[in-house]
Amino acid sequence: MNGVVTIYPDSVSLARGAADWLLGLAHAAIAARGRFTIALSGGSTPQALFTELATRDVPPAIDYFWSDERCVPPDAPESNFRLAHDALLAPLGVDAARIHRMRGELEPRAAADEYESLLRRVFPGQAWPRFDLVLLGLGDDGHIASLFPDTAALAERERWAVANYVPKLDAWRLTLTLPAINSAAHVAFLVTGAAKAAVLRAALAGASALPAAHILPSDGELLWLVDATASSRLNPA
Ligand code: 6PG
Repeated sequence: MNGVVTIYPDSVSLARGAADWLLGLAHAAIAARGRFTIALSGGSTPQALFTELATRDVPPAIDYFWSDERCVPPDAPESNFRLAHDALLAPLGVDAARIHRMRGELEPRAAADEYESLLRRVFPGQAWPRFDLVLLGLGDDGHIASLFPDTAALAERERWAVANYVPKLDAWRLTLTLPAINSAAHVAFLVTGAAKAAVLRAALAGASALPAAHILPSDGELLWLVDATASSRLNPA
């Protein structure tokens, strides 16, 4: 198994615990390097964390990125940016200069190229982006970010961000690549709900068909923050 699993009684306590841990990381990074860089995940799971963080004293020296985005305008209901904006960034009054969204309204390849260029400006001279933290959800098919099973982006080993056509959705997505995610200092999965119990077990067991099983930070910490229902298929060990 890769990483450390922390099990919380429910999604509320998970959000509180994740917020405590994230803010501890942020304060340490800011003290050491003057900033904290975080790539936010999409989907529905992170909403509780965002809402919890919006009640906290969050330091302003945080730069917000995304691990993936749908190819939609930023005000579309399914926009990952909109989720974070409404639940976290707007309530905190985050400086727009610290919000680095993937522009889903652009042609997908152009949006990916733009994001790649942005990241290379943010992390100049590095072989890979060194996010302080990448948040990830876990799809019921084991996808992470917008790296879905059997899609082209999974094989990308040069780019930091790409456009990825997802046949099962018949849609384009924007996503960080596996090596870009695996170069982070910390990667944290947030997984809640009984529906994720089987795929969580398989991912932790290293089922290679699942993109989630390929999250192996090369020089970083991997955490799985899960609630009791999602962990129901895990053995106590
Ligand atoms: C997205 C996400 C995606 C998500 C998983 C889990 O854009 O949808 O980035 O990877 O994390 O699909 O989604 P839920 O949190 O909604 O279960």
